[in-house]
Amino acid sequence: MSILHNEQTGIFSLETAHSLYQMKADATGVLLHLYYGGKTGGDMDYLIRYTDRGFSGNPYELSSNRGYSLDTLPQEYSGNGVGDFRLPAVQVLSENGSRSVDLRFVGYAIAKGRRQLSDLPFVREAEETETLTITLRDSVIDLDLELKYHVFPSQDVIVRSARLINTGNQPLVIEKAASACVDFLYGDFDVIHFHGRHCMERIPERLSLPRGVASFGSRRGMSSHHSNPFVILCDRHATENTGDCYGCMLMYSGNHLEEMEVDQAGSTRLVSGIHPDGFSWTLAPGEAFQTPEALLSYSANGLNGLSRHYHDIIRHQVISPRWQTAKRPVLINSWEAAYFDFDAEKILRFARSAKEMGMEMLVLDDGWFGKRDDDNAGLGDWVVNEKKLGCSMQELSDQIHALGLEFGLWFEPEMVNEDSDLYRAHPDWALADPDRKPMLARNQLVLDMSRQDVVDYLFDAMCAVLDHAKIEYVKWDFNRSISNCYSHALSADRQGEVAHRFMLGTYQLLDRLLKRYPDLMIEGCSGGGGRFDAGMLYYCPQIWCSDDSDAVERLEIQRGTSYGYPASTMGAHVSASPNHQTGRMTPLSTRSIIAQSGTFGYELNPEKLTDAEKEEIKKQISDYHRFELLIAEGSYYRLTELDENKDFEAWMFVSPDQKEALVNLVMTHVRANGPFPHIRLQGLNPQYHYRLEGENIAHSGLALVNGGFAFPQMHRDYPAAQLHLVAIDEA
Ligand code: DGJ
Repeated sequence: MSILHNEQTGIFSLETAHSLYQMKADATGVLLHLYYGGKTGGDMDYLIRYTDRGFSGNPYELSSNRGYSLDTLPQEYSGNGVGDFRLPAVQVLSENGSRSVDLRFVGYAIAKGRRQLSDLPFVREAEETETLTITLRDSVIDLDLELKYHVFPSQDVIVRSARLINTGNQPLVIEKAASACVDFLYGDFDVIHFHGRHCMERIPERLSLPRGVASFGSRRGMSSHHSNPFVILCDRHATENTGDCYGCMLMYSGNHLEEMEVDQAGSTRLVSGIHPDGFSWTLAPGEAFQTPEALLSYSANGLNGLSRHYHDIIRHQVISPRWQTAKRPVLINSWEAAYFDFDAEKILRFARSAKEMGMEMLVLDDGWFGKRDDDNAGLGDWVVNEKKLGCSMQELSDQIHALGLEFGLWFEPEMVNEDSDLYRAHPDWALADPDRKPMLARNQLVLDMSRQDVVDYLFDAMCAVLDHAKIEYVKWDFNRSISNCYSHALSADRQGEVAHRFMLGTYQLLDRLLKRYPDLMIEGCSGGGGRFDAGMLYYCPQIWCSDDSDAVERLEIQRGTSYGYPASTMGAHVSASPNHQTGRMTPLSTRSIIAQSGTFGYELNPEKLTDAEKEEIKKQISDYHRFELLIAEGSYYRLTELDENKDFEAWMFVSPDQKEALVNLVMTHVRANGPFPHIRLQGLNPQYHYRLEGENIAHSGLALVNGGFAFPQMHRDYPAAQLHLVAIDEA
């Protein structure tokens, strides 16, 4: 049993393999958060001390107890406007204009397994999953709140969400409904958040939490390049391999907010959920609102330990079972090879060459439909441009399959160009404020995915293409932020629902397509990694990590991504040198080593490769096949500390049975007469001896972990080395 309720003490204990989460409803019905951290073997309510703090008032019924204040006690899900002056988890506007919410315990239920969510992505049930539902009630406004906790013991993850139900006769307007709120009574924390921009996503920044509020989030209608819906709170001395770390990852691809508040007594509150700015949701009597899920995890083994929890749960409970263990094709993508300038003949030449080198799929990127010869027209018209191709999509696909390759196609379903037949027929299908010209970005508008007719149109249009030709893969792009988020199909008082309804529409479309084409692989993309989140990963087993394909920049991007997401989800390709985004020259071997730590592929014009490069690529692909399982299923370790080492980046994968490992090292700064790049390996079995491929020598796991390994000095720009270790015996 991973969920226990002690009837005597009222304490709920949620246990995973290495963590304990406790809360209790006290005599007043307030649900107090008691503890989250390493196991303790006992009840943690002794940690709460009651004191009369000035300006922290008392609930009316407890006015004689000046030591009891909602403002000083750790709350499991903070209400609003009734005495806790810290961040609220929920805010609801009642008919009379009040925004107060005061939640008290009503009851609970513990069940095996979990119920699926119908319109949102969710963490899929594991064999040992258990669910705790705690119902809180505000009996003045007739609001019930169900707090859901799905416990995944072996992954050390607790999945939280909230469901708000209007049990009264008056409509309620939800203005804020967090997915999770966690109060840490004691401890000084650093926060690590993942900021960025187009072409440089998920850059970790570690900051000491100040007194007051720190917050990160996105109001772009997408999880965004700029702020990933994932934060880590860690103790001030935590490193990659030591120290307490807590993660909170929102399973959502739209607007989100992560807030942290350090209060007057030094306690820390973390609140995460849909961004409340611009959000409101009318709940008619009897209706319910479900928040997205938040994945909480705790590790005592530093940031690497925490990352492995997220890698594990994403690989096994978020990714579709169809792709959890399936090998991903080594693909060649036409974008950086040809951009909009192609016809079927050129694509087939790429395909022939790709096949000779051992690639397994050709992906035809943007430009195959409507009047799409540049990025100013055609989005929305998902009709094959046979004139440009010189043949039908079926003919092209047949010829690619005849070469022995699979075939993939690019779509950007949620967008429309003004210069498109779709927009001319349905201008009201684009999001735009009445009487105001909408912002354009890449000359495109955003379709109103909150409308069922738009979702239905897209489903039919995409099916028409997918039914017509054999297509194993779709790249699902999304190339602008959402502004003018106004739907012509909703009344004025419901416009605050559009951004969330947009995401529900997108999720519905993905869901319907996958139900119709269960073997279709959809790779997520949003101008690279602008929607790299657990919500999209539920539908898309891999996501194009960044439009920056420069190998050296990718070191940072993939490292940042690895804090929350496994290598098997990161779309990574070998591209041309000089690189198209930075102009940087890098060795082909380095580009390959970096791209191999993702879902491997190529994004270059094969006709420009020399024979020697083609031979090298053949070898890269066969090497990748030797390691792909290890990379996809192995435990991942970053071997350098954040910002610690400016001369090289190193990381490794260790197989689940610890019998095999792959170490990667890339020099970012080669120095004359420099030191040997030395690293201490991680995750090896100290009892094993490991043979180092190419070195014809073996060392014990203990030696490699404690003493480490020194690579030879390397020369020229951005050299890289790879070390493959295989256990030969037990010491
Ligand atoms: C942005 C994507 O990230 C690129 O890979 C490419 O598909 C372009 N869009 C096409 O417009």
